[in-house]
Amino acid sequence: MTRRGKFITFEGPEGGGKSTQIRHLARRLEQAGLEVLLTREPGGTATGELVREILQHDRAGEPICPETETLLFEACRAQLVRRVIRPALDRGAWVLCDRFADSTTAYQGFARGFPIPTVLALNRFAMGVTRPDLTILLDLPVRAGMRRLKGRSGEAGPDRIEREATAFHERVRRGYRILARRWPKRFRVIRAGQSVDRVSARVWEVVRDEFGLQG
Ligand code: TMP
Repeated sequence: MTRRGKFITFEGPEGGGKSTQIRHLARRLEQAGLEVLLTREPGGTATGELVREILQHDRAGEPICPETETLLFEACRAQLVRRVIRPALDRGAWVLCDRFADSTTAYQGFARGFPIPTVLALNRFAMGVTRPDLTILLDLPVRAGMRRLKGRSGEAGPDRIEREATAFHERVRRGYRILARRWPKRFRVIRAGQSVDRVSARVWEVVRDEFGLQG
């Protein structure tokens, strides 16, 4: 494998500020002279963005079965890895991805209740050999995340998964914490309830120390 770039994923329950933090990190890495590719799941490719519409806003006009939902997330991932992530890593870019395979384990595995070994096997099929070097888990209590979501939802309102019951989101959060304990070398857990600036500073410290960057 001729992989030269680094692959960093951001994970966490709803309302943890992933999108803001990932943009801040991208800026700092660019200031350090690195090529950065910022992407997201589900999405990040033409195919993936179409599937995102189906997954988030019921565009197909019929209820999505949980099995279908799981496979659609994996389909988006398979496309993103091969069309975008792997080529970028091969040319030396740093890839930052807003959600990745751990989302499926947390949401479809721990929260929907599919067997974890099955979800991990599907993840491996979709990812192939491309695995994150580092995963930043922005952790915060479900109620705090929901409050933040309410504050920012515009006319569109919450999407299909955001509308799930609190108990579902509690299982998501617990699932992530289990994953972080299972893979302590890859995961770093950051408390997302702090101010945006404090979280950004902590994210930068973690990335800088992990990869030996200056600044
Ligand atoms: P986001 O834009 O908030 O990250 O929205 C993505 C939504 O999709 C979020 O509710 C989490 C959910 N999701 C899954 O359930 N499984 C997955 O594998 C991924 C990538 C996202």
